[in-house]
Amino acid sequence: MCGIIGYIGHRNVVNVILSGLTNLEYRGYDSAGLALRDGSDIKVYKTLGKLVNLKNELEARKSELYNVTCGIGHIRWATHGSPSLVNAHPHSCTCGKLVVVHNGIIENYKELREELIKKGCEFKSQTDTEVIAHLVANEYSKAKNLEMAIQNSVAKLQGAYAICVMHKDVPDLIIGARKHAPMLIGVGDGENFIASDTPAIIEYTKKTIYLDDNEIAIVTKDSVKIKDINGEEIDKKIEILPWEPIALSKLGYKHFMLKEIYEQPDVIRNVLNGKIYDIDEPIILNEVKLDKETIRNLKKIEIIACGTSLHVGLVAKYVLEDFTGISVEVEASSEYIYRKTTTDSSTLVIGVSQSGETADTITAIKQAKAKNAHVLIVTNRPDSNMARLADSLIPVNAGIEVSVAATKSYIAQLVSFYLLGIYMAEVKGTLDSDYLKNLKHEIIQLPTKVEEILSCTNSIQTCAKKFSSFKNFIFIARGVNLATAYEGALKLKEVSYINATGYAAGELKHGPIAMLDETMPVLSILMSGGITYEKVLSNSEEAKARNAKLIALTSSNDEKLDSLFDVVLRVPQVREILSPIIACVPCQLLAYYIAEFLGKDVDQPRNLAKSVTVE
Ligand code: F6R
Repeated sequence: MCGIIGYIGHRNVVNVILSGLTNLEYRGYDSAGLALRDGSDIKVYKTLGKLVNLKNELEARKSELYNVTCGIGHIRWATHGSPSLVNAHPHSCTCGKLVVVHNGIIENYKELREELIKKGCEFKSQTDTEVIAHLVANEYSKAKNLEMAIQNSVAKLQGAYAICVMHKDVPDLIIGARKHAPMLIGVGDGENFIASDTPAIIEYTKKTIYLDDNEIAIVTKDSVKIKDINGEEIDKKIEILPWEPIALSKLGYKHFMLKEIYEQPDVIRNVLNGKIYDIDEPIILNEVKLDKETIRNLKKIEIIACGTSLHVGLVAKYVLEDFTGISVEVEASSEYIYRKTTTDSSTLVIGVSQSGETADTITAIKQAKAKNAHVLIVTNRPDSNMARLADSLIPVNAGIEVSVAATKSYIAQLVSFYLLGIYMAEVKGTLDSDYLKNLKHEIIQLPTKVEEILSCTNSIQTCAKKFSSFKNFIFIARGVNLATAYEGALKLKEVSYINATGYAAGELKHGPIAMLDETMPVLSILMSGGITYEKVLSNSEEAKARNAKLIALTSSNDEKLDSLFDVVLRVPQVREILSPIIACVPCQLLAYYIAEFLGKDVDQPRNLAKSVTVE
């Protein structure tokens, strides 16, 4: 979704802002813009579409710029008003002296807009953001102090905002403020940054101050002051970012998505590191702050998440129920919030989110907290809003994921749930010690098995070419891999725009079978050694009888599959409960290669955003 960077300091301001926005590009956007203080002027440039258009515009107009000392930049993912130049940020007040960029949604913008129009403000856009520009300008005309004008203005805003403001009459100052939308300060030497996310600043500094809700940052090139909305100064800690700038490089891969798929063996090793060190010893999971007695008495676990993270939750249901005997409910956060749930203090609520910023999940988590549940967050962003709400936090440490389509964060979250399941089973004594030893032994082998898949992807690439012209796909599976079917279909949809649906294989004959013919390929996930293999095989035969083209994703060496299926993609054998870790990888690769073959914008699929910060 939208991204913000503000910069004040000795470097080339335009370059810093453009590179910051480039590093936020992965979040998804449809227009971009920046405002630059040039001498005593403020100059605004905006373009539609990709950042390259803004770069070209600035290149063409660089002779207009003389002495740029600071600036604020934005990429916009349209919410209020279409993606258009007039709706792109920065927005200005009527006289054009004040500029603002904004992430989030102002819920009371209609009322504010009417009031401001009555006061003579002239609105140009359909955005909620423009009210902030007029509101702050209005307050500034009374207070003659930008800091106070912002304090007075934010008190009137309802909803979510991270804003950066500059004023023509207040040289070399950028002010930021936030509520329910992320914002951080990058602290430098003779320079400072304001950004909505760490990749925007990582090239320049690792020293960061995270703003909390209702805080205002007053930033010059030599100083950063953080105040509350009453103007009281707050002493904030400088944190050191754990990321390296190299995380934002493709390292020779054509796309970040492919690079991130290939990082997965090491990502799994990272998750296991320090948690399983000896198969005879209990798992170490210091992140879980529930005491052992509470774990033993838990009545229910609720997992809430969206999209790919929801699919992690669906796998986790099988794993946690199997390992611990505790009943697990999994629900999309956007639905959980409308239900009178039976959540209470004997419920463990687990929020799963790669970004830690998903608005629906944050709302759901707050709802669960209000019912006294212990909230555990599984996320790749320990610096996120969601992480700050957690009673227990499992950071999955997959490293920055740049591709919008989640891959390595998915596998890291999955592995974290296996560890959580074992940890809880060890506390509750629900699994016998031989089973536990074998299970841990197999988990330790997982990175090597994923490497085996990644070392030979020819058959997946050939399959991708063969099937790239189909307009529809069905993925089927049963049991713990039903979520893999959902996730495989979602990945394909996201990056190739091919219509793909995941179904419980047993449900095929209850409706979807009507769609089957030679134009509708079926990908069957058949993991051997468990209870679902034979049944999914029969369901695949039913599809074959309706002339569907068949792809098998299987760990079986049974030669019979080669005659039944048009393509057989073989993966290493693991016990069925662990097989989602193995089965998801060919699904990711298939989606990637089909999209790449079709020439799609793999890393930034249309309409999608990496952090979905609106409900
Ligand atoms: C798909 C994808 C999305 C996210 C969803 C929730 O590849 O990444 O479906 O999983 O938008 O986001 P998070 O996990 O950040 O809460």
